[in-house]
Amino acid sequence: MAVIDLPEADVLKVPQDFPPGPLFTVPPVLAELRDHRPLCPVQMPSGTRLWLVTRYADVRFVMHDPRFSRDLVFPEAPRMAGDDLTSVDGSLFNMEGPDHTRVRTVLGSYFTRRSVDEWKVTAQRHAHDLLDRIEARGSDADLVSDFSEPLVARLAGDVMGISLDEHAWMRERIRRQLDLLGSRRQIASATADLSELAGRLVDRAGASGLVATLARAAGEGTITRQEAVGTTGLLLMNVTDPLVPPLTVGIMTLLLHADQLADCKRDPGLWPEAVREVLRYHNNGITNFPRVALEDAERHGLQISKGEGVITSTLAAAHDPREFTDPEVFDIHRAEKGSVFFGAGPHFCLGSVLAPVVLATVFTVLFERLAGLRLSVEPEQVQKADGGFFACPTSLPVTW
Ligand code: HEM
Repeated sequence: MAVIDLPEADVLKVPQDFPPGPLFTVPPVLAELRDHRPLCPVQMPSGTRLWLVTRYADVRFVMHDPRFSRDLVFPEAPRMAGDDLTSVDGSLFNMEGPDHTRVRTVLGSYFTRRSVDEWKVTAQRHAHDLLDRIEARGSDADLVSDFSEPLVARLAGDVMGISLDEHAWMRERIRRQLDLLGSRRQIASATADLSELAGRLVDRAGASGLVATLARAAGEGTITRQEAVGTTGLLLMNVTDPLVPPLTVGIMTLLLHADQLADCKRDPGLWPEAVREVLRYHNNGITNFPRVALEDAERHGLQISKGEGVITSTLAAAHDPREFTDPEVFDIHRAEKGSVFFGAGPHFCLGSVLAPVVLATVFTVLFERLAGLRLSVEPEQVQKADGGFFACPTSLPVTW
């Protein structure tokens, strides 16, 4: 039966039916779905019904199989809540086939060992500078407003060539664009604003970093201006939004696992393992963005019909006991190295080397500088921001 025809009672609502577990842990309902409804019909805030995929093997299957397309640039395409970044023409994220490969090759040329090293040095510099300011003010801070958010804002400024004011303006639009509880009008207007900013960045003389790579390729005719602008719009989100939650919630989770934090301090070679585990344990968002079936496909005895939307949950996949022993345990020493938090297949995250390097660098600096760092509230009092796509604390009060 097509997902659209299923009775209302069989369809779960995102995000209402997916409340998180305690301390920012995975929504408990995902375990039930993995075991009993590995292909589960869900209704998104947009009203669109999709098939939600939760098992590790199935998530990878969908991400690799060309029958499931990320090209959602057409009227009535499956959407989360409205015309968000998946509706933008020319964005790498929304392309498939040879056009996707062509634009991805251009962008991929930026992600060299050298640029990763540069991001590392930049992240170190900003982390030290922000900690200088924090320490000069006393011995307590809110690590969201005083540290993670400004740090990522500065980093994004450097690699996208935008000022802090532009970043603040942009961040507010990204929040509205990805607000699962936002109105369609609000989401569409945020998307239009971000596309307009992306256009200005591409056309700006002396563009730097990632934008320069795209602008140059557009000038040479390797990609179109629309592709440069669409992909810059995607990067405005990518460079900023997925980094703040693992940074913030990662600090909190490490503080709550003092023995493992002590292991990292004793042996800094463990930081990459700690980052990998933070990314597995918390993963970003209940789900990823949707795909559409280009042909009929069958999975677990159910048919996904051509034209229906499919949505993966890398969060659920990263907690699949078929792949990870005791997945609900935070363990930086775990043996399994399998990962799905950066996606898989043709759209595999281009920041998958860079993001962990940034996180490991920042954790190292923070925990070395503030050796006695601890939460200054009960962990249960740390609040999750409402509506946002990625689960992130609104504030993280600490002392040292
Ligand atoms: C911890 C942080 C991050 C996480 C967890 C993450 C996760 C992901 C995931 C799951 C996808 C694939 C989505 C799908 O197939 O539906 C993706 C795609 C992508 N990511 Fe990341 N990402 C992170 C940071 C970054 C950063 C810092 C950058 C850039 C500097 C970046 C650039 C990209 C790009 C360009 C794509 C689209 C690739 C394509 O469509 O071919 N990501 N990311």
